This record gives sequence, structure tokens and C-alpha cells, in this order.
Amino acid sequence: MNIHSYAKLNFGLKVERKRDDGFHDILSIFHEVDLYDDLIVTSRPDGAIEVVCESPGVPEGFGNLAYRAATVLRDSVNRQDLGATIEIRKRIPAGGGLGGGSGNAAGTLIALNRLWDLGVARTTLEEMGARIGSDVPFSIRGGASVVTGRGEYLQAIDSTGDLTLVLVDPGFSVSTPWAFGKLNIKLTSQGPYTRFLNSVRAAGEVDLLDLMLVVENDFLPVIQARFPSVQRILSVLRSSGAIGASMSGTGATLYGGFASEEGAQAAVARLRHQGYASLSCKPLRRRPEQ
Ligand code: C5P
Repeated sequence: MNIHSYAKLNFGLKVERKRDDGFHDILSIFHEVDLYDDLIVTSRPDGAIEVVCESPGVPEGFGNLAYRAATVLRDSVNRQDLGATIEIRKRIPAGGGLGGGSGNAAGTLIALNRLWDLGVARTTLEEMGARIGSDVPFSIRGGASVVTGRGEYLQAIDSTGDLTLVLVDPGFSVSTPWAFGKLNIKLTSQGPYTRFLNSVRAAGEVDLLDLMLVVENDFLPVIQARFPSVQRILSVLRSSGAIGASMSGTGATLYGGFASEEGAQAAVARLRHQGYASLSCKPLRRRPEQ
């Protein structure tokens, strides 16, 4: 079975508090984009689980979230006879805050649920996903959601607005636990981003062009203080006409949101000229499968 596993962007990310279990409660809008990895999932009769990926730096064993997804699903039905090969052809940069590994895990759960003919309910797959990684439940649903809790509470929303995104790899990667550890969580009164999200939650829909005006990522000051290229890239995006520019997740991928496709292409060209890997993509709109 061949499936696409899509990247996601965080359109804004606020960290509300540290919880007793060591995780943090967040507030964010997650949105799928039309950048994807290919997953080729086959079932095998010998009970072995194997992940194959030719991209450098992507683990093929237990360190790979797709591998963990296959074992969690198999254990949940107590069927050690079930085996699978999961081949991953990466297009989404790994370790970049784009949810590539989470998407691979989500795609593996969905594909193996069908291939192994298990009939596990989607909500149960989401609960399993949360045990594999905080962003996996969202990747199972796809589309756009307001995300709270440690990432497992999802309110699906409609999204409108013709936005073109420019993604930029600043040339370094960020460890998620490190970034959370560096945060200085302050209790502040509700800012424009939080107020905007409250209205999105009430309406059940978001206009992405409006959202770009208020995006805010709590991790950005932490990353910016350490890596001077971040400010340079955000300036290029803004001076090329981005309505808003920020970072996805805990980094390190930076993005700009453009109302004009030409503006976005010009920004990609400028950034590549400066030596940064950059590409444009579009928000992916779909209603979650039931
Ligand atoms: O769930 P995931 O594997 O993405 O989390 C990696 C690490 O990031 C966690 O072990 C935790 O340190 C941190 N994290 C957090 N709060 C979240 C998500 C992740 O503190 N909501």
C-alpha cells in the first residue's frame, strides 16, 4: 500500500505551562501542507517489522516513529505473528519542526490497520498515536486543527484564504526536549494570538491571511538568541512581502506566508541565492476522515 504522509506547520505556538508529567500544555494551530513523504507499506508473513529509509540520519530501527507505530499497533491486538516492511522515501526535512516523523507514524498506523485488517477505530488509533509522539494524533486526522493539551486535544477547523508558504531550512536543527528546557514560561495576559485563536475556536474556521498577521512562536526568541541566521531569514521573508513569518514547532524550519504566488517564488529565489534550502508549498485542506 502506497500512501503520502504529509508535513504540518505550526501557525503560532504558545506554551501555557509545564505539567506534572514533564510535558507542556500548548496552544497552536496545526495545518497540513502539500509536502509529503512516500510510505510503501507491505505486510509480511514472518512477523518481522522492518523500516527502510535511504535518507541519511533517519533511523531504521526503534528510533524511527514508524517502527514504533507498527509495534504499538501489533501489541495492542496481541498478534506477534503480524509483520510489515515500511519503506520511507523522505521529502520532508527530518528534525525540522514539520512533523515528518509523526506523519510517518500516523501513515503507518492507518496503513497497517487496513493491511492487517484490524478494524481499529480512528479515535483508538489517535490514542495510540499520542503514546508514540505528541504530534501523531494530529497527523492521523490531518487538515487543520486548534491544538491544546500536549498536542492530543484537537478541534478540527475549516480554513480559508489563498496563502502560499515559503519554507526555509536555516541550516541547523533543534532538539525538541532542549527547546522546551530552555523556555522561560511567563504568565502573561492574553495577547493578540491567543485572542485570535479564541475567536477561531468559537467560529470553527480560520482565515489564514488574517492568522498570518498574529502568528507568534514562544520558541522563536530562544532559537533566535542562539542562531543569528534566523533573524536574517525572517527579514528576507518579510521584505519579500510575507504577511507573517515565524518558525514551525520547536524549529528549526522557518516560514513566511504570502498572499501572492509570485512574491513567494521571488522569496524562494532570494533565499536560495543566499545559500538556504527553500521551497514553496500550499496549505492542504481536507476534512478529517471518520
Ligand atoms: O512527544 P514528543 O516525542 O514529540 O516529545 C518530545 C519531548 O518534547 C518530550 O519528551 C518533552 O520533553 C517535550 N515536549 C513537551 N511538551 C509537549 C511536547 C513535547 O515538553 N507538548
